[in-house]
Amino acid sequence: MSDAERECVDGDPDGDRRDRPALAAESGGSVPDLTSWLAHRATVREFDPDAEIPDGEVREMVDAGRKAPTSGTTQMYSFVWVRDPATRERIHDLCDRGTEQIEEASHFLVVCIDLRRIRRLLEHRDREFQITPAMGLLEGAIDASLAAMGTMTAAESRGYGVCPIGNILNGLPAVAETVGVPEGVLPIFGLCIGVPRHGEASENAPRVPLDAVLHEDGYDDPDGDLLEACHDAMDAMYGDSVYGDSTREWHGTLVRYWGPDGFMNRREGTLLAALRQQGFFAARGLDEPADGENADSADEDSDECGDD
Ligand SMILES: Cc1cc2nc3c(=O)[nH]c(=O)nc-3n(C[C@H](O)[C@H](O)[C@H](O)COP(=O)(O)O)c2cc1C
Repeated sequence: MSDAERECVDGDPDGDRRDRPALAAESGGSVPDLTSWLAHRATVREFDPDAEIPDGEVREMVDAGRKAPTSGTTQMYSFVWVRDPATRERIHDLCDRGTEQIEEASHFLVVCIDLRRIRRLLEHRDREFQITPAMGLLEGAIDASLAAMGTMTAAESRGYGVCPIGNILNGLPAVAETVGVPEGVLPIFGLCIGVPRHGEASENAPRVPLDAVLHEDGYDDPDGDLLEACHDAMDAMYGDSVYGDSTREWHGTLVRYWGPDGFMNRREGTLLAALRQQGFFAARGLDEPADGENADSADEDSDECGDD
């Protein structure tokens, strides 16, 4: 072990961190420890509609997000920066739930899985591309989410507020058309970036206890006590907090999302319809899923849709 490595291991974690190999050399070791700051970050839903964030800053923040890890260097994502207010209004309508922030934030981006660019890159060099819907969806969603998270962290570190908008999934096929993305490109969530109306991001939601999500050497099913601790921790959000309403309980939220008639079940249909529309099932002789009727009925059922 070199002196530098030994210092890195033995050194004071709060002291000089210049020798940590993971810190980019260009930063000169001046990267702050973000651990405690990340613990207090919060989603912002109320933006100052008159605040302006220069375009150049948006480009910088997205550019920073692009340095997120990407599977095999393939970068299976694109962000569509929606500039036209009428398009933002239309997307807001398609979300079918209160997401005024889409119109009020200084900027609105749509985060997409992008397999099309891969196909075009290959075909440009006379190579064949074969779409694999499940892998495309999984790998593309991971890549896109990591890049979006980097972009969000860059924005929050500059004092801006961010809000991901999963509600676009409520009307996904129409959102894809409205955003104007061709086959091979699938929007997965929106991203608002703006100036918080009340000056700062106020309060984040609680989380289930760390022991429920961090498993050592295998997976431990949570016992009854830990399940109760999860509910207790999350119920706290409905008390005296930004989420208000002390009559609500978190298990009700879980039912609304993941119960048999929950939002996720309803969105399954719109997702399948959007995958079909965007050509994710179009190659290798793959048929659309047998459950095609489910996809068609999704629009009719969409009077109660997810709010996140
Ligand atoms: C994929 C995804 C989609 C989301 N969609 C919405 C949304 O449509 N509307 C909204 O207000 N918040 C949305 N959120 C924000 C979550 O509601 C928020 O992260 C959660 O309540 C925890 O709050 P916190 O980030 O302040 O801790 C979304 C978050 C993620 C990760």
